[in-house]
Amino acid sequence: MIKNEIISLIKDRRARVGVVGLGYVGLPLATEFAAHGFKATGFEVDRRKAEQINAGTSYIGDISTEQLKQCVDAGRLRATTDFDQLKECDAIIICVPTPLRKTKEPDVSFILAAAEEIKKRLRRGQLVILESTTYPGTTDEVLLPMLAETGLKLDEDFLLAFSPERVDPGNPDFQTHNIPKVVGGVTDDSTEATAFLYSQIVNEVHPVSSASVAEAAKLLENTFRAVNIGMANEMARLCYALNIDTWEVIRAAATKPFGFMAFYPGPGIGGHCIPLDPHYLSWKARQHGFDSRFISLAEEVNSHMPDHVVRLVSDGLNDESKSMRGARVLVLGVAYKRDIDDVRESPALSIIDRLRTKGCEVSYHDPFVRELRFDDAHTESSGAPLCSVDLTDEEIKASDCVVIVTDHSQTDYRRLVRLARLVVDTRNALNRDLRRESSARIIRL
Ligand SMILES: NC(=O)c1ccc[n+]([C@@H]2O[C@H](COP(=O)([O-])OP(=O)(O)OC[C@H]3O[C@@H](n4cnc5c(N)ncnc54)[C@H](O)[C@@H]3O)[C@@H](O)[C@H]2O)c1
Repeated sequence: MIKNEIISLIKDRRARVGVVGLGYVGLPLATEFAAHGFKATGFEVDRRKAEQINAGTSYIGDISTEQLKQCVDAGRLRATTDFDQLKECDAIIICVPTPLRKTKEPDVSFILAAAEEIKKRLRRGQLVILESTTYPGTTDEVLLPMLAETGLKLDEDFLLAFSPERVDPGNPDFQTHNIPKVVGGVTDDSTEATAFLYSQIVNEVHPVSSASVAEAAKLLENTFRAVNIGMANEMARLCYALNIDTWEVIRAAATKPFGFMAFYPGPGIGGHCIPLDPHYLSWKARQHGFDSRFISLAEEVNSHMPDHVVRLVSDGLNDESKSMRGARVLVLGVAYKRDIDDVRESPALSIIDRLRTKGCEVSYHDPFVRELRFDDAHTESSGAPLCSVDLTDEEIKASDCVVIVTDHSQTDYRRLVRLARLVVDTRNALNRDLRRESSARIIRL
């Protein structure tokens, strides 16, 4: 039985693991396998990334260069752009991007490209796993027919499963090994072999009855977040209108020990997951004549937040008899969340764009993001990239308004509230003590 052959290779660490796509998801995963004694090969289309890995240098915040170098030096991790080496892998895990098209429909072209490379070299004895977030049915309806075209038979020759990635970049408490892994195979043998593989590197594996269940579970997780953040954002706008402190309201509600889970408002949602994944679910729903209204509503509320932030800036300046036109606005933090360097879908891009459209002179400071390009950001801004300025006393003092968009932990907020005139805090970065000792006027979301 092919399942038993694969499990036996995994058991005594003879199984070679291939990871296709070495980004925020793929590189930590490949490193984890290598650290647990497997020989891991990463497959990339970006030659520079492959070269960096082979030189033992990490380009992903969650993986230190030291950690990576150890695996590379031990001969357990290498990267390549030569997909012929897929033949040598016993387990192949696909971790390529799943963006949206301009029409907000799923773009599974990266999955198809990766699957095409695998299909060309598929051989008896391989386990193929998809980790990229996608709509329910992708593994059964798209991947399986492609691999079956080789003439090789599922369960007799190869196995196929979906196992969603749940990595939370920049979160030191939860890394690959202690985030439970959901596994859904196209067949029971596929589920069993995949669960066994992950159990070598992850503390807890949760098998489900099909690949579609695993695909849907991942989309539920991220849609749940998008919807609840939408609720918190709506509450923030309502509290602003009622002149009530949103954060105090949430803190109070969160003292209830059951039936409430705290979500927090912010300047808008960003990253490669929360703004995109719910569209994968609503697209699939539409295929079945189903209108997923929670998803549309959450998107509407969340995508309005950059406008609300600009309104807070405008209200603050107005109270000081200043206009938006010509006002100097310093944006603090442009990454989509704290302590990472990722600006994909970051609300900072929309906020800066809107402020510029109103005539503000915008600069930004972000210790993780040296340069900001607007070319692909669906904004009006174009031309030369913006570069991060140093957070000097002069820069703060010269700003008519400072907007905290991302609350990086290394920012000196005490100095900020001492020197700034007006601060718009979209993240509750300024605690009560800081607010008390502030000489700046503070407007909170
Ligand atoms: N970043 C996250 O926090 C996160 C969390 C959970 C799930 N996911 C999901 O995981 C998947 C990967 O996300 P990511 O953030 O790692 O993306 P990423 O853009 O950081 O990395 C993807 C990598 O794949 C490479 N690539 C593209 N096409 C390829 C191909 N045909 N062959 C080989 N390599 C190829 C790219 O060069 C890139 O290095 C997505 O589906 C995403 O939704 C991401």
